[in-house]
Amino acid sequence: MSDEGNGARSGSFTTDEIARRVAELGPWFHNLSLGGLQTAPDHFLGDYPSFKWRNFQHAIPEDLTGLTVLDVGCNAGFYSIQMKQRGAKRVVGIDHDKDYLAQARFATEVLGLDITFEQLSVYEVGRLREQFDVVLFLGVFYHLRHPLLALDLLRHHVTKDWFIFQSMQRGSRTLPAIEEDYPFSETAIFDKPGYPKMHFIENSYSQDCTNWWVPNRACAGAVLRSSGFTVEANPEPEVFVCRVDHSVNPHPLPEAC
Ligand SMILES: C[S@@+](CC[C@H](N)C(=O)[O-])C[C@H]1O[C@@H](n2cnc3c(N)ncnc32)[C@H](O)[C@@H]1O
Repeated sequence: MSDEGNGARSGSFTTDEIARRVAELGPWFHNLSLGGLQTAPDHFLGDYPSFKWRNFQHAIPEDLTGLTVLDVGCNAGFYSIQMKQRGAKRVVGIDHDKDYLAQARFATEVLGLDITFEQLSVYEVGRLREQFDVVLFLGVFYHLRHPLLALDLLRHHVTKDWFIFQSMQRGSRTLPAIEEDYPFSETAIFDKPGYPKMHFIENSYSQDCTNWWVPNRACAGAVLRSSGFTVEANPEPEVFVCRVDHSVNPHPLPEAC
């Protein structure tokens, strides 16, 4: 870089301006490439979430022309950006954290993409009053104290067709056959490693007290089915590509079976 700074431009921003804003808006959880600069080059998970996306990008329609997308817990907008770049006509990203939304707005301004970002909790999606063709629910489930309520609200209020889900998982990854019902005297089944289980974190996990419930792999699929989704693909253990199952009662709180 010369003494006068770096005058190279990306959209209406010089590289110096981008570097200054990226530093001001940090720390970043999404490692985005903005005008050749990385927003989180030292991320503890590596090049996140690009490396994750590479594992399942093939399982989502490549051409989203004419479709609408809601990205729940969008963070700095990595996945919203991918959806817009696949041609989606409208992309809305929501997150309850205004600092992440500021990053997302800046990133899309640099990239010249038209994406709407709103500060909203997943529990408030009913306020959107809109159904989306594709809903992304990636990396949020285990951060919720009421994860099943969130799934019910997403299914009922905002999901028209595709539902793309990702959750951290812990415990067994086996998928044993589970019967429709068991007698009261059957107790051993609950000790099978692959029986659907959620692990409750009373205090903190990975120095993050926003981690609440971590399912094993069987449980992730089970809660999705019970919330009215059909699992079409499981391109990597944590990611489930689902469609709305219209045969399931879309009542917002399906307490009864
Ligand atoms: C682990 S990050 C995942 C970000 C992104 N979806 C991804 O997969 O890379 C979790 C995100 O969910 C957001 N979040 C957590 N609880 C939320 C809630 N109740 N409503 C909306 N967003 C929430 C956080 O602010 C954060 O941006």
